[in-house]
Amino acid sequence: ASSQQQQLIQLHEKAAEVYHHMLMNTAIGEAALDYLHKRGLDDQLIEEFNIGFAPNQRDFLVRVFQNESLDSEAFPNSGLFVERESEELVDRFYQRIMFPIRNFQGKTVGFSGRFFATEEISNQEQPKYLNSPETSLFNKREILFNFDKARSSIRKGSTVYLFEGFMDVLAAYHSGVTNGIASMGTSLTNEQITSISRIAQELVICYDGDQAGLDATNRAISHLQETSRLNLSIVSVPEGLDPDEYVKKYGQDAFVNLLEHGKETVFLFKMRYRRLNKNMANEKEQLEYVQELLQDLLDVDSLIEQDRYLTQLSSEFQISRESLQQQLYDLKRQRR
Ligand code: GTP
Ligand code: MN
Ligand code: MN
Ligand code: MN
Ligand code: MN
Repeated sequence: ASSQQQQLIQLHEKAAEVYHHMLMNTAIGEAALDYLHKRGLDDQLIEEFNIGFAPNQRDFLVRVFQNESLDSEAFPNSGLFVERESEELVDRFYQRIMFPIRNFQGKTVGFSGRFFATEEISNQEQPKYLNSPETSLFNKREILFNFDKARSSIRKGSTVYLFEGFMDVLAAYHSGVTNGIASMGTSLTNEQITSISRIAQELVICYDGDQAGLDATNRAISHLQETSRLNLSIVSVPEGLDPDEYVKKYGQDAFVNLLEHGKETVFLFKMRYRRLNKNMANEKEQLEYVQELLQDLLDVDSLIEQDRYLTQLSSEFQISRESLQQQLYDLKRQRR
């Protein structure tokens, strides 16, 4: 890393340390710490991920940094501050639970801050999560939350779990599933897929069980199929819950069991997903459904799997296997 990058890393490590201290050891951080405990994070996990709290004060970090012998020239480009019209710097993050974002080498290069609402402070205008802006250090297209820690266990099992949120990665980690990662709340980029592909053969998508999560899963599948050779499977969390909520409701063992034994194939996910927006009592929509699934079937490499799903479609919709097979064959020729 260049000396400018070294300097920015130093600022981030310092900020992480101070935020962590505020959370763990001060009255200002007490309510946030209670909140995290109630959400099931224990001190060991909070320590391991160096989670912190940014107080509700716009000059908190500014002051801390002024009192240290830190080079203030680096402040404006660090992403930790925002410039006011008067060119005065104020803290970007305040009244937020701070998740340090580490690069692949384990260095803190950014933050994601979760707004922490209290009775006195329940500002609706705040976004739930606020991320560091792009900097020379923090490239959102490349970064993956927890990739540094997860890397060795991903390699070992050749499998990676992809979650939607940081809290989901933490809930999994706490349950002993250490090969979980998340993007920064956006869809996976080609850069991230390349990094994952280098060390994993199988990717399990375990997004939130709500409609947004299902839609995101469907998009992720298409993108991953277009750009990688990863084996994909899906874990759908029941009842519209997200993984973190599922752990809270059913416990760690049930969650681990879901992750290990609740995987479904991409095609079965598609079967469920495509139904959601259709009235299956309507003949026309039924036929559309079958057409769409035949398209999906083209992406199924295994002949055994294809055969099984053709049988399934044939019996559910009373269409002869021969017609389905012929249609599939035609679609295959069209696609080429
Ligand atoms: P909790 O409510 O703390 O459990 O968070 P969550 O991870 O369940 O949040 P949610 O499912 O709403 O969103 C998933 C991920 O999307 C989060 O971890 C963030 O990375 C991202 N995200 C959610 N809300 C926002 C937002 O307001 N702004 C930005 N930039 N990202 C967000
Ligand atoms: Mn500590
Ligand atoms: Mn969500
Ligand atoms: Mn969620
Ligand atoms: Mn959640």
